Amino acid sequence: MTSPLAGKRVLLIVSGGIAAYKALELVRLLRKAGCGVTAVLTAAGAQFVTPLSLQALTEAKVYTDLFSLTDESEMGHIQLSRAADLVVVAPASADILAKMAAGLASDLATTLLLATDKPVLVAPAMNVRMWLHAATRANMAMLAARGVAVVGPDEGAMACNEFGPGRLAEPPAILAAIEAMLAGPRPLSGRHALVTSGPTHEPIDPVRYIANRSSGRQGHAIAAALAALGARVTLVSGPVGIPAPAGVALRKVETAREMLEACLAALPADIAVCAAAVADWRTEAAGLKLKKTPGAAPPVLNLTPNPDILATLSQAAARPRLVVGFAAETHDLLRHAGEKRLRKGCDWIVANDVGEGSGIMGGLENEVHLVTEHGVEDWPRLGKDEVAARLAARIAQVFA
Ligand code: C5P
Repeated sequence: MTSPLAGKRVLLIVSGGIAAYKALELVRLLRKAGCGVTAVLTAAGAQFVTPLSLQALTEAKVYTDLFSLTDESEMGHIQLSRAADLVVVAPASADILAKMAAGLASDLATTLLLATDKPVLVAPAMNVRMWLHAATRANMAMLAARGVAVVGPDEGAMACNEFGPGRLAEPPAILAAIEAMLAGPRPLSGRHALVTSGPTHEPIDPVRYIANRSSGRQGHAIAAALAALGARVTLVSGPVGIPAPAGVALRKVETAREMLEACLAALPADIAVCAAAVADWRTEAAGLKLKKTPGAAPPVLNLTPNPDILATLSQAAARPRLVVGFAAETHDLLRHAGEKRLRKGCDWIVANDVGEGSGIMGGLENEVHLVTEHGVEDWPRLGKDEVAARLAARIAQVFA
């Protein structure tokens, strides 16, 4: 089953303390669960773990205080929490907890904590007497009253040869706390969704191929949105320049025939969304590179129709309960989309106008109409991520 963390993003602030090394294990667990992590390392935290280790594990840029406060990109840094679903401070030192309680914004980490409107989870780690000190007690009470969630600390032997509460909670316990905070409604839990995305490449010879302008953005966003609602997702993608969303099983293919084979191999599925721009035709690929011969006529490409993946899935013995296709049209959009729904035998068609100047093919936005057995729903122009989230929510209604 997909983790509730798949497709989510955590902003992880690592403050100072010997337990900072455990933040690396936490990052590893989060990544394994399909969760994106952006790490911010305080100056004290950087005494214990290096930005390089965090960068290697998060596979993303690590933010530290080693930039100039006049750096124009600093505004961007402050906005880091916007892209996150949750802010986690692990380990949270007595110092950073006190700064949070006082509302200080004296470095990047505290500035982010003051600026964020996302839920915050702290995992305190400090010497037992610092933890039990009245100042820390008051700070923790203040933070709790503001809705800051806490995991740990554990009780046990400490690095400073003392015993008592103050040890950082173990990474699996912090992970469980993060999961509990991020588990939204998961209406597609237990369902398997198959999504096709991107273009296909049909070889002409070993170096040339027939392709199209599909970026795979819409299909990939749909895969991420279905995973976020709890579905187990198989994403069958043609060649694209974007990464697969976290937490989905990626099957990379090149040609339409490979795409069909990968889709059939992924059955049974409850849901199929065919968002790929499959090449309609292929040609017999030459084994050697076609040569230009001066004076000779150019080669002629004989085209053969490719299998229709959407139609094949719609008519398969193990037909997914809900099959959704796309219709990219340049004119008579709704008429063509309605006809396509019936011809292919799918349940829904997401129709979009890709006429010249629409900026949709390869762009970031999409304006679609959902054609179902009940009629047409016109959706406003939205980001492809929002179209995906809406479509996933609409699909979830079918399985409610
Ligand atoms: O027939 P047309 O290409 O316009 O249909 C588009 C829809 O059919 C899309 O959902 C696309 O992914 C799917 N399709 C397919 N296999 C093909 C051609 C289109 O799955 N060979």
